Amino acid sequence: MKKITIAIDGFSSTGKSTLAKQLAAYLGYTYVDTGAMYRAVTYYAMQHDFINTTSFDKEKLIDSLKDIRLHFVFNPEIGYAEMYLNGQNVEREIRTIEVSQFVSQIAEVSEVRSKLVEQQQEFGNTKGVVMDGRDIGTVVFPNAELKLFMTASPQIRAERRYQELIAKGENVSFEAVFENVVTRDAIDTTRSDSPLIKADDAIELDNSHLTREEQFMRVLDLVNQHL
Ligand code: C5P
Repeated sequence: MKKITIAIDGFSSTGKSTLAKQLAAYLGYTYVDTGAMYRAVTYYAMQHDFINTTSFDKEKLIDSLKDIRLHFVFNPEIGYAEMYLNGQNVEREIRTIEVSQFVSQIAEVSEVRSKLVEQQQEFGNTKGVVMDGRDIGTVVFPNAELKLFMTASPQIRAERRYQELIAKGENVSFEAVFENVVTRDAIDTTRSDSPLIKADDAIELDNSHLTREEQFMRVLDLVNQHL
């Protein structure tokens, strides 16, 4: 059967990765979570104290990019690939609110973006890929057969992210999560390199009032039009 590239972009916590995982599992495609890659670089920068609440040493991070190796390893127990940073599984570490607080600053750095985009394009050079992020339909795969752009109200997105973090045992307040979602959207949409924008040929999907199943069925319809 014909295989395609599916690019999913959108604001923070719009359920991009949930949808991407569902699609990849159903279609037998590879799922690539590009946000995890920016998060892993952020975690590295935090560990080396290149970034903290008072300073960000961009040059040191740029100099160290050559020492950062990222790869995904499929975990059959959970059904998707986990993020490894220099050989260490960092899947848990990269999902914390602390990493979320710095990641958009790291993602503004062009040198970081070009390193990660190159690797993402390699992952996708065989078709049969679902990739989610902020610039997949505009920069990484401008020729993707299907592009989705996901939105939902900030309140609903923050609520979903808050519930996720609480379920993982994180000690966060709803206000902190809401603030983080809104701040990241602001940085992501206004940065000069690869800002988050809807590609002209992307299909917008507002899932504020859709169940996971409704959304999945709707997207499956779109996928089938391209197969
Ligand atoms: O998708 P996720 O919320 O994990 O992404 C974390 C952050 O990584 C985003 O807020 C954004 O700053 C950055 N990002 C990006 N480009 C991508 C994916 C993520 O700039 N393709």
